[in-house]
Amino acid sequence: MANKQANLDLGETEQTFPILEGSCGPDVVDIRKLYGATGKFTYDPGYKSTASCESALTFIDGEEGVLLHRGYPIGQLAESSSFMEVAYLLLNGELPSADELDDFDNTITRHTMVHDQLRQFYQGFRRDAHPMAIMCGVVGALSAFYHDSTDISDPEHRKISSHRLIAKMPTIAAMAYKYSIGQPFLPPQNSLSYTGNFLRMTFGVPAEEYEVIPAVEKAMDRIFILHADHEQNASTSTVRLAGSSGANPFACMAAGIACLWGPAHGGANEAALNMLQEIGTPDRIQHYIERAKDKNDPFRLMGFGHRVYKNYDPRATVMQKTVREVFEALNVKDPVFETALQLEEIALNDDYFAEKKLFPNVDFYSGIILSAIGFPTTMFTALFALARTVGWVAQWNEMISDPAQVIGRPRQLYTGPTQRDYVPIEQR
Ligand code: SDX
Repeated sequence: MANKQANLDLGETEQTFPILEGSCGPDVVDIRKLYGATGKFTYDPGYKSTASCESALTFIDGEEGVLLHRGYPIGQLAESSSFMEVAYLLLNGELPSADELDDFDNTITRHTMVHDQLRQFYQGFRRDAHPMAIMCGVVGALSAFYHDSTDISDPEHRKISSHRLIAKMPTIAAMAYKYSIGQPFLPPQNSLSYTGNFLRMTFGVPAEEYEVIPAVEKAMDRIFILHADHEQNASTSTVRLAGSSGANPFACMAAGIACLWGPAHGGANEAALNMLQEIGTPDRIQHYIERAKDKNDPFRLMGFGHRVYKNYDPRATVMQKTVREVFEALNVKDPVFETALQLEEIALNDDYFAEKKLFPNVDFYSGIILSAIGFPTTMFTALFALARTVGWVAQWNEMISDPAQVIGRPRQLYTGPTQRDYVPIEQR
């Protein structure tokens, strides 16, 4: 409710705008009427001070390193919940009863198959195509197969397309991996969990039974939980903006995948492991720390820093713990983990990183785990997209149901040429 006001003195006029309070986090100044009242826009490249919507899904306190999904701390969900339960929570607002979870799980399980003709899409890609290129193409094409669920004004259409997207992303991602290594696609197996099914479709072969390792299934499921949703990040904002035009949900998710691919966003998990492998041994860390601090060097520590977190990303805390669990379960060691730990230690004790409040984020350790499980680095962002589909779908549904929702259409500060007349070519 608006119960406080902000006064804006523009010299010739003074305007007041309501201040809206949320259940927690910063208040917002409601400037929806600013342009109509003053003929002026706000200017906020990168939207660092702009709330684009009202949401009840995820709350982040960047200063304190807090992340809540519908009020539940990410650390508790990672420890005690499951990815399917978190998906239910984000979509429905409350933790499910045992029967509700069972019903939801069964519904998702029965949507994991893809139309057989979708397999042909993969044949059009080179074998070395980046899995994110395949995900963009194949997910966008899903709308060509589901004309029965693209009427976004129909809640039932929204519900079934949401279930189809959450259910089919593991199948599509696993197929992208299989295609890249020249192995046949494995169809989903309904007797397995969501995450166990994904691991089998990815690493199983028709020639023999695939045994899901419980510790790996648990770690993978936890990684999915850690990536499920994260407030109004770049790819979620892309999904909301695409959805605000009335585009079908499959096209909106393809837009989100495209945005997530960037190395400043979801592509950072692939870039972070590549960076750690390039650093190689701890003795080379300081050289890269100096490069990251050099304003003339475009190099940045991948997996470090965050627009919102100015404290330790709580997801990175869980991720680091999960590295140790996976290494123990698989009886593997990876010297890159030692390098990562030492890099973190050195960076966090360096004034540059301390002053700019740069801490490890969700992408810093995730690649080490995914590599230990057997994924190539090119699959890391596809896994991020798989998990984030839950958040994108939940945010998309929330946006469509928001009565304040209108098509997103930002304005600009124009600094180009003022009006001038055309000059015929012979006079130039
Ligand atoms: C994700 O938004 C989300 O929630 C995203 C995400 C999600 O779940 O959806 O959390 C997932 O995208 C995590 C972030 C993954 N990206 C990386 O790890 C790439 C490396 N990080 C940076 O590119 C950067 O930190 C960003 C893009 C993440 C945040 O950039 P900002 O908020 O725009 O801050 P900035 O670039 O203006 O940096 C502030 C200062 C700058 O120095 P000055 O110009 O003030 O002198 O800090 C410096 C930057 O040069 N800086 C870094 C750095 N990150 C910022 N310097 C060295 N190494 C880094 N990693």
